[in-house]
Amino acid sequence: MRAIRGATTVLKDEPQEICAAVGELLNTIVQKNALRKEEIVYILFSNTSDIRSMYPAKAAREAGFSFCALFSAQEPQIDGALVLCIRVMVVAEGAGNVSHAYLRGAADLRRDLNKFAIALDGPSGSGKSTVAKQLARELDILYLDTGAMYRACALKLKKEGVECSNEARVASVIGGIDLRIEYRGGAQRTVLDGVDVSEEIRRPEVSMAASAVSALGCVREKMVEMQRKIASEQSCVLDGRDIGTVVLPDAAFKFFVTASVSVRARRRYGELTAKGYAVDLAELEKEIEERDRNDSSRAISPLRRAEDAELIDTSAMTVEEVVALIRRRIREKV
Ligand code: DC
Repeated sequence: MRAIRGATTVLKDEPQEICAAVGELLNTIVQKNALRKEEIVYILFSNTSDIRSMYPAKAAREAGFSFCALFSAQEPQIDGALVLCIRVMVVAEGAGNVSHAYLRGAADLRRDLNKFAIALDGPSGSGKSTVAKQLARELDILYLDTGAMYRACALKLKKEGVECSNEARVASVIGGIDLRIEYRGGAQRTVLDGVDVSEEIRRPEVSMAASAVSALGCVREKMVEMQRKIASEQSCVLDGRDIGTVVLPDAAFKFFVTASVSVRARRRYGELTAKGYAVDLAELEKEIEERDRNDSSRAISPLRRAEDAELIDTSAMTVEEVVALIRRRIREKV
């Protein structure tokens, strides 16, 4: 048996509102879990005591769920509890993973059960990290910049004087790497051997080295394992090259964010000059093309769009527009 949980809220204690909210909640649970009618054994509801105009069980029947046993109970009045809230448990035959559904005003309830991941892949300079940061802030979920992890590996190898060609040494150094991802004031800090290297890994020479290092199987294996662990613990948005294809192929939301080479070079130019680096735009354009070639042509986990990832070309879009588009997709599903 599977017990799938969920909750939703209504704005007013009115039968029409309750019918719409219960129908939406049950249909979301059915869709998310690919449930067949005959698998549902019974559905239990509870509602806060401010809902009096209709039993959720009756709303469920009207929404077409009359083929299974339905039961509603009223919750006691508890100070500080969410208002006008309907909770559900759908009990279905079969085993396996379940996907719970917390909608509308209840989206913040049980964040532990309502985990989801947003995968943002794409080439450097496509704007995905700016978008990812803003999304994480607005949705109050974690942002994981996976590129920073490959950059930290490149820095570590550089500090140890290990060449990428020496695979055995690379495997041993990266196998024992002391790399931690921490969050301070909501911002990711990349900590290598106990030292915060978040700024150092942004240096242009580390970018090129990271591209080379990230082509190595032993490095990817270690980083992917760390990324999956972080993503399994909470809702998060991850940006990288292989999130939707390799790291989290089952992510609820997948996007491939791209932009023309010249737009990306201009963006990088702006970022680097603002930090005081003297860089040449034409040089940057060449470098971006070279990194694209490296990242897309490598044998292991090359940069490519997952078949089910939505393509977003940000060349002529603002960050706000991209964030709004992704949030719309999330609202349609979560
Ligand atoms: O996103 P970035 O520029 O900080 O990434 C640095 C390098 O790491 C980039 O050349 C590609 C690589 N990378 C990767 O191979 N897979 C990821 N998930 C993230 C980055």
